[in-house]
Formats: sequence, C-alpha cells, structure tokens
Amino acid sequence: MNRILVIGSLNVDVLQQVERLPKVGETLSIHNKSTNFGGKGANQAVAAARQGADLTFVGAVGMDAEGTSYRELLDHEGIHTKNIQLKEQPTGTAYIMLEDNGHNTILVHGGANMALTAADVEEAAPYFKDVDVVIAQLEVPAAAIKRGFELAKLYGAITILNPAPITNRVDPAILANTDILVPNETEAAALLGMKPTTNQHELETRLPLYQAKLSVTNIIITLGEHGCFYAVNGLIGRLHNANVDAIDTTGAGDTFIGTVAAHLDPKLTNVASTLQRATLAAGLVVSRQGAIPAIPTKSEIDALAKHYTEFI
Ligand code: RIB
Repeated sequence: MNRILVIGSLNVDVLQQVERLPKVGETLSIHNKSTNFGGKGANQAVAAARQGADLTFVGAVGMDAEGTSYRELLDHEGIHTKNIQLKEQPTGTAYIMLEDNGHNTILVHGGANMALTAADVEEAAPYFKDVDVVIAQLEVPAAAIKRGFELAKLYGAITILNPAPITNRVDPAILANTDILVPNETEAAALLGMKPTTNQHELETRLPLYQAKLSVTNIIITLGEHGCFYAVNGLIGRLHNANVDAIDTTGAGDTFIGTVAAHLDPKLTNVASTLQRATLAAGLVVSRQGAIPAIPTKSEIDALAKHYTEFI
C-alpha cells in the first residue's frame, strides 16, 4: 500500500437539500440541512487512508473550533496532521446545494485554505522523502502546489493533480511536474477550451491535445454515471460503473482519486485493477449522503468486489 502526501483543502461542508436550484429572484425552502467535514484535499486523504494507505496532510485550517475538530477527525483517521498550519483566516467552508435528483452545486469560501504558502509546504519537505505519491487539487494556492510537486519530483514520488474546481488554466510549472492528471469530464474539456464529452471516440481524439497543450501524458477522466476513461502508461481504456442509486454525488471524484492513489503501483503497472476498485469506491460514496461520512473502507470495497466478478 502506498505512502501518500496530500497538499489540499479542508472545508466544513454545509449541505442544504433542495427540491431543485432556485431561479434568479426566486426563494425556495431548504428541506434538510446538515454540516459535515469535506474539502477536496481532505476527502481524497480520508479515501486513501480508509483503503489502508499511510497519509500525511499538508494544508491549513483557521484558529477556530472547526479547525480544532478537523484536526481531531483526521487524527482519528490515522492521518498525520503535523503539517496542517493554523491561519488567522477562518477554516474553509463549502455551501453545497443537493437537489432531489442527486446533483450538487457548490460555493466555496476558501478561508484558511487560500492562506497556505509555498513556505508552509517547504516546512514539510522532510515528509516528501518518504512518500510514493503526492496528490493536489486546486482549492489551495498554485504556489503551494508548485513547490509541493517540485519536492515530489526531487524525492522521486509520483504526482497526481486533480484540476478541480474547474479552470481553463493550470500553472504550466505545476503541469510540468504532473505525472497523472485526473479531471472530470467538465474539467477535462475546460482545460482544452472545448465542450464536455463522454463519447469514447471524442475522448480518444482529444488525447494528443493534452500532450500538446498541457504536456501531460497520463490522464484519467472521471465521467460520473458513465464511468471513467483512461490513457495511462500507453494503455487506453474505459470502465463502466456498477449499477447504483445515486443520492448524493458529493465527494465521488475525491473518493475515486484517493482510492487510486492508495492502490496504484508507482510504476503504473496495475492501472486497470486500480481503476476498477476506485470505480466501486465512487459508486458506494454516491449511494450515501455527505462527503467524508460516506467514504467507504477497504473491507467494504473488498466485500463489494466479490459481487462483481469482472472487477478487481
Ligand atoms: O469535491 C467535493 C468537495 O468540494 C466538497 O467536500 C466541498 O468541500 C468542495 O470542496
């Protein structure tokens, strides 16, 4: 199992369940409301830790009650929290509107996450020496990720970049040190300035553009209910999801990425089996509510895999 370092965000997720999103000028009622821990970085770290990987987190929370509780939660998950900085800004918050059809829309106040600096990452440099995989998303400043990926390459770890939330530009210095890019279909298209697609032929046709425009050779595109598409280590393929009733898609991509990071051989020799396991993990998380509370354990995935003979 891999040793992983995550450079990423820690948010308090305020989940608001609504029948549908309001139109401009309209007021609708929230029929259920709850508060959970989330944030793309933390979700990915917890997903990997629950698969049995060794996890170090580099991030920032506020000097507030949420920040203290968050560190306690990660400690409880067995994640090393020494490199979580305390900032004057409040702990990040994500306001998630979950529609009755299972779709979600998120507004994020970055808070302490956005105060993470390259110097904070530098302080964690000794921890980069002992890891196999370094993961980052785009909910912390680019300068912090850039330094983190430089350290990862210096010490021989592979890097996974989740270019989320959506953007049409990632700092080329980060991409130059990215081994595997893992966007969803919307993010994958935005990076090329194109329309999203889940069509296999179109996805394959676009592959050379990631190399030409972003200098990225390995890419895994998560496609929601349509599974995932990958081009890694010269192998091109597609995996379909197991049949699940989605009730909340929050954290599905994060769970997928954390599971990939936990199981992927850094020499990229077990791509298909790793993605099959990650697909099962993402399927489980969408069948339950919330991000971190819904993330499955290794034994849950092992048990589920027995029902899917084509998996694992
Ligand atoms: O990817 C899902 C996450 O995005 C949520 O947990 C929320 O915190 C936002 O960062």
